[in-house]
Amino acid sequence: MGKPPQAQPTGPRQAQRPRPHHRGMPPRQGAPRASDPLPGLTDDLLTAFADGREEFTRREMPVGGLGPIFNNNSCASCHNQGGVGGGGVITVTRFGLSSAEGFDPLADLGGSLLQVRSIHPAAREIIPIDANVVARRQTTPLFGLGLIEAIADETILAGVFDGKPDGVQGKAALVTDVTTGEERVGHFGWKGQHATLLAFSADAYLNEMGITNRFFPEENAPNGRADVLATYDTVADPEDTTDPVTGKADIDHSADFMRLLAPLQPRTLNAAATAGKALFESVGCAVCHTPSMQTAVNDIAALSEKTVSLYSDLLLHDMGALGDGIVQGNAGPHDIKTPPLWGVRASAPYLHDGRAPNLDRAIRMHDGEAVAARDRYNALTPQQKQQLISFLNSL
Ligand code: HEC
Ligand code: HEC
Repeated sequence: MGKPPQAQPTGPRQAQRPRPHHRGMPPRQGAPRASDPLPGLTDDLLTAFADGREEFTRREMPVGGLGPIFNNNSCASCHNQGGVGGGGVITVTRFGLSSAEGFDPLADLGGSLLQVRSIHPAAREIIPIDANVVARRQTTPLFGLGLIEAIADETILAGVFDGKPDGVQGKAALVTDVTTGEERVGHFGWKGQHATLLAFSADAYLNEMGITNRFFPEENAPNGRADVLATYDTVADPEDTTDPVTGKADIDHSADFMRLLAPLQPRTLNAAATAGKALFESVGCAVCHTPSMQTAVNDIAALSEKTVSLYSDLLLHDMGALGDGIVQGNAGPHDIKTPPLWGVRASAPYLHDGRAPNLDRAIRMHDGEAVAARDRYNALTPQQKQQLISFLNSL
């Protein structure tokens, strides 16, 4: 809850930062490069992409609602590896209390997500001593996410069946989408915690930047301390408001950018990568890293009925020792969603907390449901391993 305006100038965020009118970016010839829009967008959509990119990269200030506690001051300050919208080496921290009764995200103490920065030192959050689980999560790339969003829940659910090779299971993340109230299959996040880009955007505005919005209208109290929040939260909520001219708030603009962002282009397979592709299948990687899925019919032609070469089933798997101990929705302490492998060449280090410096190490660290595939990888000759890595580097 925000206090009425005090000494600081407040007011609608748009009034502080008038949004220039874009005429859209001229479409680039040939295959899109990193941070380019999807090919074949209309002029209106190119304008939405350009507006969204500007919002995604804009540095937020306390006067515009940043904080009181936050992790960084723009989306692009974390998502920038290989271009705006990429992944990044910055990790965020989650904590909680695991006991015989289950997992407690310590919400009353500011959990499970830690905010490491604050607009005033007195408001800074710390990991509470009650926490016995502390986990880091690495920033994921956003290239091509509109295509992943456009994959229907039914298509993901069709991947859940018994009798998969190697005893692989896999379950869909089930979430209530905050933007519609609908029960959905989670598509995004290491635990599949959101179904839509707008929901993730709204969540990130609040939880990464401290900017309240129409879906998350209440500020995070530092370690749950309401008095500290009352002292330092001086901007009226929601801080992100809808611009009457465009009908959009900042959360909508950033969602537009992500939705219309092209995937990284795969490279042409050379002989080694071609051999690696066959090994990827025969070793059992493709059981979880599903080479492609189809999008449903979509209002945006560039997203409608497309083949998405994502190399993921978008399902949660019990990854044994790789699990981060955090429970989110129906994702258990050992569950992690299969990360898409498209663009994986550009997103080192690997795994949810970045513990693997390279692809070989990431594969060797697979555990739980992926043990059989991992052991077969380990048994390959050095040359075959190199071929498989060449294939991954082509995606
Ligand atoms: C402090 C760094 C940081 C900032 C700032 C940040 N993110 Fe992220 N982002 C992350 C991390 C870490 C993850 C993985 C989180 C997880 O899954 O638990 C992530 C994941 C995502 C995902 C899911 C991607 C996928 O493939 O599943 C989306 C979408 C996203 N962020 C959008 C945004 C938007 C929009 C903003 C700005 C409002 C933003 N992020 C700001 C660090 C950040
Ligand atoms: C049981 C399902 C499953 C199988 C089988 C599997 N993986 Fe994975 N893979 C995952 C999950 C889940 C993760 C994320 C684990 C984490 O982040 O801790 C992952 C992560 C990865 C990553 C790191 C991606 C990133 O962005 O950090 C690579 C690379 C990878 N897998 C390649 C492979 C290869 C190659 C094989 C075959 C030898 C394979 N996987 C088999 C489920 C699977």
